[in-house]
Amino acid sequence: MVRTLLLGVAAAVLIGSAGQAAEWTIRLSHGDNENNPTHMGALKFEELAEKYTDGRVDVRIFPNNQLGNEQEVAQALRMGTIEAEILYTGNLQPLAPSVGVMMLPYAFTSNEQVWKAMDALKDPLNERITKEAGVRILGYFEKGFRVLTNSKKPVEYIEDLQGLKIRVSKNNIAINTFKSWGIDPIPMAWPEVFPALQQKVIDGQENPYTTAISSKFYEVQKYITEIHYLIWSGPLIISELFYQKLPEDVQAALNKAGEEAADYEREVSGKETEEAKKELVKLGMVLSGPPKDEEKWQKAAQSIWPQFYDTIGGEEWVETARKIMSGQ
Ligand code: MLT
Repeated sequence: MVRTLLLGVAAAVLIGSAGQAAEWTIRLSHGDNENNPTHMGALKFEELAEKYTDGRVDVRIFPNNQLGNEQEVAQALRMGTIEAEILYTGNLQPLAPSVGVMMLPYAFTSNEQVWKAMDALKDPLNERITKEAGVRILGYFEKGFRVLTNSKKPVEYIEDLQGLKIRVSKNNIAINTFKSWGIDPIPMAWPEVFPALQQKVIDGQENPYTTAISSKFYEVQKYITEIHYLIWSGPLIISELFYQKLPEDVQAALNKAGEEAADYEREVSGKETEEAKKELVKLGMVLSGPPKDEEKWQKAAQSIWPQFYDTIGGEEWVETARKIMSGQ
């Protein structure tokens, strides 16, 4: 539940970190802890937003789902009761269908391709999601492929997946993708995942390598398979109700800060991902690389793309978005 204690102050005269009287306070929520690249990007946004507005904006970061889980906070942004959030695209898509174009399984093969897509789509997406969900993207974060972890056995072939209880985010694209691989995944909110792994309610989950480190999954998971079906992309979003109250120069400063914070986070995340792989091995996890039959996973997942079109803004939007992403 969104914590009422922290609600209610949308704008206030406070002394910002830049040392000046702030006219606007932005509470920025995210679901990761302080060791995750998301938090490093959040800190960069705080620094730049305060700098570019000469301290007229005060950004306060709330990590670890302190203000509520990712989907709850996105709803609070729509109402204007929380100002900003960084969240996994998959947790925004149920509220803002059009962002689902970032989630078609096996649509992207590299981080760089995703960066181009995210940057090119920022304005066209904002036109749509301000209406769909009352939120606007300031910058788009990225943390590499969502890899599969589990506590039971190495998953080297699609057959090995059968019988495993795998958590996915509450998102139809992830749910149906796993169904195309022959299992019924378990949709669950992010803050419940670690306890569920610990209590063995679920056997595994999928998230980036850096999350396996920052969330200490190595304590409760043994095996990692590097599937390439989705990259963790996550927008830094702001409440449209709040944004429309801001003067144009402050809006421009926040957009600049959001884009630069995203560039920074992407770079940090790339480095941290390489470190995380080494660290996870040291911590006793078994990294088995990509599935030996990954083309089967890819074929099954791509064959169901048309099922998603209605839930991600319609086929026409998917075609337009894919053209924009490929620079056509
Ligand atoms: C999820 O699996 O719900 C997200 O990837 C968590 C996150 O935002 O790091």
